[in-house]
Amino acid sequence: MQPAEISGIGQYTGQEVLLKGWLENMRSSGKILFIQMRDGTGLIQCIVEKSVLGDELFEQAKMLTQESSFEITGTVREDARAPGGYELGATGIKVIQVAEPYPITHTGIGDREHSDSFLMDHRHLALRVPRQNAILRIRASLIRYIRDFFDNRGFILCDTPIFTPSACEGTTTLFETEYFGDKAYLTQSGQLYNEATAAAFRKVYCFGPTFRAEKSKTRRHLIEFWMVEPEVAFALLDDIMQLAEDFIVEIVGRTLEDHRDLLTGVLERDIASLEKVQSPFPRVSYMEAAAILKKKGIDFEVGGDFGAKDETVLTEDFDRPFFVHRFPAAIKAFYMEPDPVDPTLSLSVDLLANEGYGEIIGGGQRAYDLDFLKKRIAEHGLPEKAFDWYLDLRRYGGFPHSGFGLGVERTLTWICGINHVRDTIPFPRLLNRLSP
Ligand code: 4AD
Ligand code: MG
Repeated sequence: MQPAEISGIGQYTGQEVLLKGWLENMRSSGKILFIQMRDGTGLIQCIVEKSVLGDELFEQAKMLTQESSFEITGTVREDARAPGGYELGATGIKVIQVAEPYPITHTGIGDREHSDSFLMDHRHLALRVPRQNAILRIRASLIRYIRDFFDNRGFILCDTPIFTPSACEGTTTLFETEYFGDKAYLTQSGQLYNEATAAAFRKVYCFGPTFRAEKSKTRRHLIEFWMVEPEVAFALLDDIMQLAEDFIVEIVGRTLEDHRDLLTGVLERDIASLEKVQSPFPRVSYMEAAAILKKKGIDFEVGGDFGAKDETVLTEDFDRPFFVHRFPAAIKAFYMEPDPVDPTLSLSVDLLANEGYGEIIGGGQRAYDLDFLKKRIAEHGLPEKAFDWYLDLRRYGGFPHSGFGLGVERTLTWICGINHVRDTIPFPRLLNRLSP
């Protein structure tokens, strides 16, 4: 018997195949069962007729409950009305395991029967429902588009360590751990290492899990997330903004090409707004953004960082992602190059996704003056010893360079048009959740 997967079932039209999977749903009309089968690659309706299978097999098929695992043989038939365009006329069936009553209805997330915390507790099972399945399928593609973008432009992938001896993005969000009698921290960003590899390979990127011990319980914060970080030798702030823009246009465009059906059909995403993600992206300075907030009557103190609400309000004025550049140096990391026009500002940049989503990219131009950096490290209360290797990059052929970091989950939250970042990673790590 020809083993097959549902996603490629069309090539077997008229032939008999063997499918293995799980029961999503079953309807019965006396002597016929209509079984919705899911095999992880797709969904197909199987028509199980008593007159074809005989009494005994038919009775076994009737025992199948939601998420029971089974094998089925049958003839592939084209059917324009069927969801995937095909159905299976069953010729045989074999039960693998009859599932206990499944705690989640097949419509799953989005179904008001289940509370968020219930679904999070049952995350290992909720991954099977269509909505969650669609998001994670798009995630896998998005990661591929991200890698393709950099690989196709001559960037060298240089993996950076997860255990690190020091902070990169401020000491308040460091995850501390013990390292053979010493202290170590889980990485907050691969950037400092990227700066070293950029001197070796010119254009580099790292892509991996990133950790922030953030006591934030917002819909934008994960404790563990995935970040891609390009770094480019001799690039200035404007160059890195252009790179970020080209990058976003490409990864959103490819998602639309490949996943229009999941976005509109399963996630009910308004695609029109994603189609507007084209160059050029607006670029506003921090000071201009602060003025926009003031004009809208928002109580925002110039000099401070934008909160999630401020970002959301800012996005109202734009129909595509936009850059905010030159944040006050005082609210940014120690490594930022000061703006030569006004040294209280930094050559930093965030990219904010529109439709209320807010920051998905943070980056900027790196300081490369040795004495300036030593001063900044001291001002930030960081141990200079731990940064000695980093300062070497300013001793041995210092060079202007810039880069950024994009959070995969925040980007996917925006692309999918969903509410909470937790649904964009298979097993989210949140302030109050380490399980499953
Ligand atoms: O703005 P961040 O903190 O920038 C950096 O870490 C730089 N060192 C990157 C660089 O220049 N190489 O983080 C970058 C991005 C954010 O814009 C956001 O998308 C994501 O990482 N991010 C988070 N995503 C989910 N949960 C969190 N707690 C996040 N913190 C940052
Ligand atoms: Mg940031």
